[in-house]
Amino acid sequence: MKKLFKIIGLALATVLFLAVCAAAFVQVRGIPNYDPPKLPAQKVAITPERVLQGEKIAMSMCADCHLDKKTGGLTGRHVDDLPAEFGKLYSANITQHPEMGIGNWTDEELIGLFRTGIGRDGRFRVVMPTFVHMADEDIYSIVAFLRSDNPLVRPQAVASHPQEPSFLAKALTHTVMKPTPLPTKPISVPPATDQVKLGRYLVTARYLCYDCHSQDFKTNNIMEPEKSGGYLGGGNRFVTKTGQTILSRNLTPDPETGIGDWSEQQFVQAVKYGQSPTGPLQAPMPKFSVISDEEAKAMYAYLKTIPAIKNATPEDGAAANPVASR
Ligand code: HEC
Ligand code: HEC
Repeated sequence: MKKLFKIIGLALATVLFLAVCAAAFVQVRGIPNYDPPKLPAQKVAITPERVLQGEKIAMSMCADCHLDKKTGGLTGRHVDDLPAEFGKLYSANITQHPEMGIGNWTDEELIGLFRTGIGRDGRFRVVMPTFVHMADEDIYSIVAFLRSDNPLVRPQAVASHPQEPSFLAKALTHTVMKPTPLPTKPISVPPATDQVKLGRYLVTARYLCYDCHSQDFKTNNIMEPEKSGGYLGGGNRFVTKTGQTILSRNLTPDPETGIGDWSEQQFVQAVKYGQSPTGPLQAPMPKFSVISDEEAKAMYAYLKTIPAIKNATPEDGAAANPVASR
């Protein structure tokens, strides 16, 4: 018996020792570095169509994090709508300034970052989503927009703020928040005639609705979005401008807690203009006002086909303080 206790004691001590070592490793090593992605040298042709499409994507997908209202450009800001558990994270200056922005990045370096999350210096960019399933043409359009004469990206000498990640954020970059692989084959946008397929593309690849609208960033599955915990059932936590916690909402076809009882028109209103049948929607829900009605309708058609999840959020009458109820 005594011997058994000794063995258990030793085993516990070993586990504790390993846990301390792992924590020290994460704390010291911080956010990991990787080999920068290797893409062939390329020059994205800047066409008016691409600049227009890139502007649409950037207004929907980049401006909320990168726009500083004071500079009127994509000069970066404190991303303060994430829960405090991630620490203080700052988006970067992505204007054309050669030193302080991305003026000196090559097209392949930009594309490599968008696909994998790894910068030209090998540093993994935290929080910034990776666009691993985005169509090649959409990626080229973002690059064309960043190179365009749009006032949002005109060179501005504003230094990017260094990151102040929490221990949790650092630990996550060693476990779940990892770089994504470069695509192995060409990716194209599904045709508008296949509404459900196009909708799935918009929700999982271009506008990444699932990223915010599933249960928790920590249980999202970037490679296979449908395998994310509570896929599109809402409940992911954010912080509003006034410091209140809000939850993303249930977009599955459950009639009581999801959008099963919504009309197509109600959905378009909510997504494009932030008007839900229950009232105006707050940030960080982006206003996708520049997307077309066809795109919003395609997303509605797709969302009607996914498995329903019963998950009530505050507007359905669930506890208003989700942190306390966890
Ligand atoms: C959720 C917020 C968020 C969104 C959305 C986002 N970014 Fe970022 N981005 C960041 C943060 C934070 C960093 C800095 C990360 C770091 O330094 O570790 C960053 C860094 C970058 C960088 C690297 C700049 C540098 O000098 O290191 C580029 C380029 C970039 N973002 C472009 C984009 C584009 C283009 C989009 C839209 C397609 C976009 N981002 C969407 C948060 C975001
Ligand atoms: C940055 C995170 C984020 C992204 C990206 C995002 N949402 Fe949201 N969304 C939210 C939050 C948070 C709310 C709740 C807002 C509130 O409570 O006022 C919300 C609310 C909604 C609602 C209202 C639902 C209801 O029951 O009232 C709809 C519809 C919606 N989002 C659709 C979408 C679609 C479609 C996309 C992608 C095109 C998307 N969202 C992308 C965070 C996000």
